[in-house]
Amino acid sequence: MSQKAVLFVCLGNICRSPMAEAALRAEAVAQGLALTIDSAGTSGLHAGEGADPRAIAEAQRHGIDLSRHRARMVTEDDFMHFGHIFALDPQNLRDLHRLAPRRPLAKLGLVLDRVPGRAGQAVIDPYYGDADDFAAAWDDVAEAARHIVTYLLR
Ligand code: 4NP
Repeated sequence: MSQKAVLFVCLGNICRSPMAEAALRAEAVAQGLALTIDSAGTSGLHAGEGADPRAIAEAQRHGIDLSRHRARMVTEDDFMHFGHIFALDPQNLRDLHRLAPRRPLAKLGLVLDRVPGRAGQAVIDPYYGDADDFAAAWDDVAEAARHIVTYLLR
C-alpha cells in the first residue's frame, strides 16, 4: 500500500472519476508531486468503455486528453494498494464500504471532504445533465485536486 497512490470512484467511471483522475494528475505534475492516480466505478455497467464524450470535451477545454481512458469496476485489490480512495458522492462511498474487504488498507472518504466548507457534499452526477453540469463537476474536482495535493504534501 502506498500513501502516494490515489483512486477516485464514481458509479460508472465514465464521467466524474475520470475527470477527477485527470485533474489530480495535472495538479500533481504542476506541483511536482509524484503520485499514482487511477479511477474506477462501483458498478461495472460501463466497464471497457471510454469516458463520456462530454467528459472528454470538458477535459479538452482544460488541455487534458481523456480519450484513452477505459472504465473499470473497483476491485478488492484496490483497497489494499491505494492509500486513499475518494468517492465522488455519498452513495458511492456507501457502496465502496460494501465492496471493501474486511480490513482495507486504504483510507476511504469523499473527494469534497478535502475542500474546506464542503465536507459531506457530492460532486453532482452530470450524466443526465448538460455541458454546464460537466463544467461544474470539473470545477469541483479541480478544486479538490488542489487541496488533495496540499494534503499529501503535508
Ligand atoms: P459517473 O456518471 O458515475 O460520474 O461515471 C454516470 C455514468 C453512468 C451512469 C450514471 C452516472 N449510468 O446510469 O449508466
